[in-house]
Amino acid sequence: MAQNWTPSSWRQKPIQQVPEFPDKAALAATEAQLATFPPLVFAGEARRLKKQLASVAEGNAFLLQGGDCAESFVEHGADNIRDFFRSFLQMAVVLTYGAQLPVVKVGRIAGQFAKPRSSNIEVQGGVELPSYRGDIINGIEFSPESRIPDPERQMMAYRQSAATLNLLRAFAMGGYANLENVHRWMLGFVKDSPQGERYRKLADRISETMDFMKAIGITAENQPSLRETDFFTSHEALLLGYEEAFTRVDSTSGDWYATSGHMLWIGDRTRQLDHAHVEYFRGIKNPIGLKCGPSLQADNLIELIDALNPANEAGRLTLICRFGHDKVAENLPKLIRAVEREGKKVVWSCDPMHGNTITLNNYKTRPFDRILSEVESFFQIHRAEGTHPGGIHIEMTGKDVTECTGGARAVSAGDLQDRYHTHCDPRLNADQALELAFLLAERMKSGRDEKRMVVNG
Ligand code: PEP
Ligand code: CO
Repeated sequence: MAQNWTPSSWRQKPIQQVPEFPDKAALAATEAQLATFPPLVFAGEARRLKKQLASVAEGNAFLLQGGDCAESFVEHGADNIRDFFRSFLQMAVVLTYGAQLPVVKVGRIAGQFAKPRSSNIEVQGGVELPSYRGDIINGIEFSPESRIPDPERQMMAYRQSAATLNLLRAFAMGGYANLENVHRWMLGFVKDSPQGERYRKLADRISETMDFMKAIGITAENQPSLRETDFFTSHEALLLGYEEAFTRVDSTSGDWYATSGHMLWIGDRTRQLDHAHVEYFRGIKNPIGLKCGPSLQADNLIELIDALNPANEAGRLTLICRFGHDKVAENLPKLIRAVEREGKKVVWSCDPMHGNTITLNNYKTRPFDRILSEVESFFQIHRAEGTHPGGIHIEMTGKDVTECTGGARAVSAGDLQDRYHTHCDPRLNADQALELAFLLAERMKSGRDEKRMVVNG
């Protein structure tokens, strides 16, 4: 076990991005009650994910991680979860087929509620209020009452996470993810788009392969891997009081695990080595992520890796790089070289969202071509350095929203107002997500072909 660590040792450290709750007694009572609630995930599942991520770190699999920037209480419903899951499965199947590598599936879901903010205040029409920090903390409505941090919201977030996870488990294991449904995962509005056509062709090829396998006796009935899939949950563990309440000892190993989700990550604004978030994360055994933005220096990264993964265990640590399309070439190579020089085992994942946010017509948006450009650079840099571009981390939804501009169906600046529903950052819609998956599949395939050529001389 990590030295001098307890689930509450983070409380002795400085902390960023956590607001003052006015009613401290109510907060303590809520945390005490949460600590009596059943865990959402169990340690064996987190270990299973870590093993799969170890395979990514070794270059033998690819990580697909995505979902809402922030889940919300009002958008909680079966349709949203189903559409997200469908869109996610479509991406996963495109990647698996294209790259011929297993895809490790991790949703930003069932717990992704707390948000770090670049400003503590928001000004509208000359009125200044505390910023919205995610539904687990305060309300998005621009009124003084709604912006007061309210501990009761943590109860709601827990219950919503449990209900969401319950449905996701049913989808993943109960037949929805059966590869025989590959055509049915197509969402109505994607059907008529260029991506829809491309997807249909790929689904036809998969169906044909399934028919062939059936003819030789391999069917979804007798082969669980054709009808079930592993699907894991993840979120930014920002609200440490909530996380502490769900930090439990695993009875089989005696180790501490966060049980609010399978994988947790540290945000770009809360990764200070001697602060509370790093302190909390070093003691839990889950697979974890660390956001790496342009301000992260190589020597600082190595110190963080030593603190967070002292045993250099493959699969424990995923570096989620979010530099921006114009900064990735300057920042990524030096981090990769430091990690390689020190022999650290990590998963390299690309978050092409958070470094590419701009404001257009008063909407926060992300141009799709910049997202693609950051992904392209990420792949090129890894090829040049001889390392594995292990994964992608995106904000996406299964809905037909207009939050990011561009894509084959060209969402324009003027379209943003039509269906702009996000509670925080702009997400890819299902069409844009699928387009990105096709691009990734092509890059991964060409990387694989190159490797084969090298191996075969
Ligand atoms: C996020 O993932 O929503 C986020 C806030 O990212 P970052 O910490 O990289 O800014
Ligand atoms: Co975000």
